[in-house]
Amino acid sequence: MKSILIILLCTVAFGLEYQSCSTVSCGTGANNQCISVYTNNKTTIVTPCSANQTCADNGQFSGTTGNWAAANCAEKSAQPSPSIDCSVSLTTLTGKPCCNDNNCKSGSCDNGICEGLSNGANCTVDEECRPGYYCKSTNWTFPTNGTNVTNETNLTGLCSDSLSSGDICTFHNECPIGYGCNNSTCTQLFSQDINAVVSDKRFCKSDFIRNGKCDGIYIRSNNTRLSSPYACTIGQRCNYVYASDNAVAAEDWCQCGGVKNDTGYCGSFGNVIGYWDEVFPKLQYSRSDCSGNYSHTDNFAELFNCSSLSSIEEQYLEGMNEQATYWTLYQSGAIDSCVNQLGLFPTNVTLGSDTSGAMMMVISSILLIFA
Ligand SMILES: *[C@@H]1O[C@H](CO)[C@@H](O)[C@H](O)[C@H]1NC(C)=O
Ligand SMILES: *[C@@H]1O[C@H](CO)[C@@H](O)[C@H](O)[C@H]1NC(C)=O
Ligand SMILES: *[C@@H]1O[C@H](CO)[C@@H](O)[C@H](O)[C@H]1NC(C)=O
Ligand SMILES: *[C@@H]1O[C@H](CO)[C@@H](O)[C@H](O)[C@H]1NC(C)=O
Ligand SMILES: *[C@@H]1O[C@H](CO)[C@@H](O)[C@H](O)[C@H]1NC(C)=O
Ligand SMILES: *[C@@H]1O[C@H](CO)[C@@H](O)[C@H](O)[C@H]1NC(C)=O
Ligand SMILES: *[C@@H]1O[C@H](CO)[C@@H](O)[C@H](O)[C@H]1NC(C)=O
Ligand SMILES: *[C@@H]1O[C@H](CO)[C@@H](O)[C@H](O)[C@H]1NC(C)=O
Ligand SMILES: *[C@@H]1O[C@H](CO)[C@@H](O)[C@H](O)[C@H]1NC(C)=O
Ligand SMILES: *[C@@H]1O[C@H](CO)[C@@H](O)[C@H](O)[C@H]1NC(C)=O
Ligand SMILES: *[C@@H]1O[C@H](CO)[C@@H](O)[C@H](O)[C@H]1NC(C)=O
Ligand SMILES: *[C@@H]1O[C@H](CO)[C@@H](O)[C@H](O)[C@H]1NC(C)=O
Repeated sequence: MKSILIILLCTVAFGLEYQSCSTVSCGTGANNQCISVYTNNKTTIVTPCSANQTCADNGQFSGTTGNWAAANCAEKSAQPSPSIDCSVSLTTLTGKPCCNDNNCKSGSCDNGICEGLSNGANCTVDEECRPGYYCKSTNWTFPTNGTNVTNETNLTGLCSDSLSSGDICTFHNECPIGYGCNNSTCTQLFSQDINAVVSDKRFCKSDFIRNGKCDGIYIRSNNTRLSSPYACTIGQRCNYVYASDNAVAAEDWCQCGGVKNDTGYCGSFGNVIGYWDEVFPKLQYSRSDCSGNYSHTDNFAELFNCSSLSSIEEQYLEGMNEQATYWTLYQSGAIDSCVNQLGLFPTNVTLGSDTSGAMMMVISSILLIFA
């Protein structure tokens, strides 16, 4: 009786014991089953699928808890190739793909990309001016206190040179490429620290705003604040708290990394702070093929389309995002020997690295959980 009680207490106090975590390792040879689970000896074998196939349940590789389920290989869904409408007339905006001059609002298609209207040309929206210019209204002026920010459609204006860093502004598109209007001042995107008061998340190094301030998540376990790689002891809780005021954002168990020892990782949001905080500032930009909203944005898909970020930066961001998604397995190294074939995450990512590129993932979904 006594021993049963002790076991129960231990279970309540420590949750998952590392003995109940699966050991995860790479299988070899052709196997249509990409995840094989042996409950008798708590072993999970992952086997890469053949070309053009992918594991039907890749989601299991993120947030590893020990509860693995068998999964088979499935056909990869074909990526739709982006098509250009060659029949549009005088509509395509600056920096967007075109087939001929007639497609572009500016009437000029250069190397498959629409050029913008030049300085002093009549315009109605910012996005038809050349990069670094905006459509400055000629029949009314914006108030200078920054509270009246319109999206400036149907202006009567002239393409005009953008303001400079630190200048007084009323809307984002007036500011230089890669800047925005933050409390009436042209401010670089991804530049503000936690607790800075900002008008938009795009100014934060974390790309995350809460209660009008740049914010992020700290991770705590066993009453200690963790730093990357957020290692914890299996059986303990992970607490995710807002950096600005320590309010609880989320809580869960320390996750097994598929290795038979009692080190796990607070992997659910291991990427949010101290991680993205370092990633986004490296992606500050000051060039663009585009103008208007497309050159004052924190939307990475747009920024790649407009060449504001290089393919190296795209690979870096994508690699960091994939590592973050599969944080626990990435940190434990349990499947490093087959991860390239699995295509889950690159094991090493730097801004200078040359990992193979794939489709961009939606980074902000990680942060949206806290919005
Ligand atoms: C676990 O069990 C399976 C099948 O019973 C066996 O193929 C595998 O080798 C075992 N793994 C370990 C690590 O003992
Ligand atoms: C994979 O897909 C590509 C393009 O869709 C095709 O050319 C290739 O033959 C396929 N390979 C296999 C092994 O099916
Ligand atoms: C610009 O607009 C003004 C006023 O509508 C017009 O007089 C002028 O001809 C236009 N300039 C060009 C180059 O279209
Ligand atoms: C500026 O001119 C445009 C087009 O003539 C008009 O639609 C708009 O209302 C005008 N704006 C103001 C503030 O007068
Ligand atoms: C900003 O300027 C507008 C127009 O000038 C005014 O109505 C508004 O009260 C001002 N807002 C602040 C916060 O000063
Ligand atoms: C913004 O300011 C302009 C000029 O003062 C005014 O015409 C416009 O109605 C204002 N828009 C809003 C949404 O307050
Ligand atoms: C900007 O215009 C769009 C429609 O073109 C509208 O839905 C949106 O509310 C406008 N935003 C502002 C801030 O006025
Ligand atoms: C802009 O003007 C065009 C044509 O004049 C009109 O069809 C469109 O609805 C206007 N858009 C807005 C947001 O006012
Ligand atoms: C905006 O800037 C003004 C002047 O620099 C400053 O007094 C004010 O506190 C700022 N507001 C916010 C919300 O940061
Ligand atoms: C928790 O922290 C205390 C002291 O801070 C340490 O002595 C203890 O070993 C830790 N427990 C675990 C399970 O890491
Ligand atoms: C557990 O395994 C991981 C990965 O192999 C290693 O980094 C960690 O140091 C190990 N922890 C302990 C307590 O041995
Ligand atoms: C990343 O790993 C690959 C293969 O393991 C290696 O060839 C490459 O040099 C590494 N890159 C960096 C930047 O460490």
